[in-house]
Amino acid sequence: MNTPICDFIDGYRAAKKVRLHMPGHKGKGAYSRDITEISGADVLYSPRGIILDSERNAAALFNAARTVYSTEGSSLCIRAMVRLCVLYAKKRGKNPLIVAGANAHRTFLSALAFSDAKCEWIRSDSLLSCPISASEAKAAIEKYDPVALYVTSPDYLGNRLDIGALSQVCHENGVLLIVDNAHGAYLKFVGKEHPIDLGADMCCDSAHKTLPSLTGGAYLHISAAAPEEFCEWADDAMAVFASTSPSYLTLYSLDKTNAFLAQNGAKKAEIVAKRVQKLKKSLQKLGFTVLCGEPFKLTVLPKSYGYEGGELAAILSESGVVCEFYDPDHVVMMFSFSSSLADFTATENAFAAVVRRFPITSAPPAIVAAKRVMTVREAMNLPFETVPTDRAKGRILASSSVSCPPAVPILICGEEIDDGAVEAFKYYGIQEVKVVAECDEKEKI
Ligand SMILES: Cc1ncc(COP(=O)(O)O)c(C=O)c1O
Repeated sequence: MNTPICDFIDGYRAAKKVRLHMPGHKGKGAYSRDITEISGADVLYSPRGIILDSERNAAALFNAARTVYSTEGSSLCIRAMVRLCVLYAKKRGKNPLIVAGANAHRTFLSALAFSDAKCEWIRSDSLLSCPISASEAKAAIEKYDPVALYVTSPDYLGNRLDIGALSQVCHENGVLLIVDNAHGAYLKFVGKEHPIDLGADMCCDSAHKTLPSLTGGAYLHISAAAPEEFCEWADDAMAVFASTSPSYLTLYSLDKTNAFLAQNGAKKAEIVAKRVQKLKKSLQKLGFTVLCGEPFKLTVLPKSYGYEGGELAAILSESGVVCEFYDPDHVVMMFSFSSSLADFTATENAFAAVVRRFPITSAPPAIVAAKRVMTVREAMNLPFETVPTDRAKGRILASSSVSCPPAVPILICGEEIDDGAVEAFKYYGIQEVKVVAECDEKEKI
């Protein structure tokens, strides 16, 4: 597979021209491959040259009708996907209503705040997972008559939904299926479990999370089965929210990733997946409870070994192993094509050195749906104030108040904070929350 972006940038770097264009570092030192949209370098969201060629390579790899690059992560792609749903609905005179799993990344909420999309939620009692079955999806579709179903799969813990079954239900009912596949780009190369192959109309993949790409590198994939205007609209949908200064270092890495995947993807993925599987078995033998979800992800439930997630992550870190994420009930580790055999050995040794203690039996608070007072868009577009969690009861949540990772909202913006929500905020270490500011009747617009 050719690498048109890398070739252009490497050629420009070698030519040592006087750079009277941005960026201000002028390509000196380590930044020599960092350029801007100069002549010949194409334009990210009106691509006609090297970027379009490279995106076509990516589309061919992922079996997509169109793949558009992001240098601002899946976050940008999520906003674009919601915008595409709104345009699609309006073109057909439909209500731009999306049904979404409540474990959506907080960017989905900002997409709702920036668009005319409405949302109804499918809840689960766990914060990070929302195991939506085909029958639940069908019931929600019959109840709400949405234009799209929006799901997160894999979720932060590595749980996956049956995208094939969801896509069947959606398409039988004339509903689009949109998948946040931020964690699952590599699934294309392990067991062919990528959402585009399983029937999703579009999905976002964070290349930077699981492929050898720089931070920010991501794809918006449009399926051949999606409404045909999506391919035409996709660039514009991204451009509406994107910076006009894309990172060419990130584009370079996406281009290079194509060549890597074309040559090594399936072969290397199998090796990594086998190593992760072996590691999971070894940790289970040591007595750890391991979630067996995604092939490249290792999620350990630390309490059964006598630790909260933060304690276990700190011990592993002292042994030189740094985790992706932890909360009291989980420690999440991510492997990738770039993980070496030594990384697996070090991880196993770090776990083997942890002294087993009596199990901790406390459970996380169940996440219960709260009373909706206003829409996400209304709540996120009102002045807010920050209050200590202890004094937040009865107030309306204005902003998702959760940092990344995992950036999954405990309560949806626009909902009233009740005792259950206060308890959940405190359990997840959230000391203060942003609530809709109280204002005078006279001040209301
Ligand atoms: C499930 C999920 N979706 C979307 C995102 C946003 O992805 P990005 O960081 O590539 O913008 C994240 C980030 O962690 C995520 O976990």
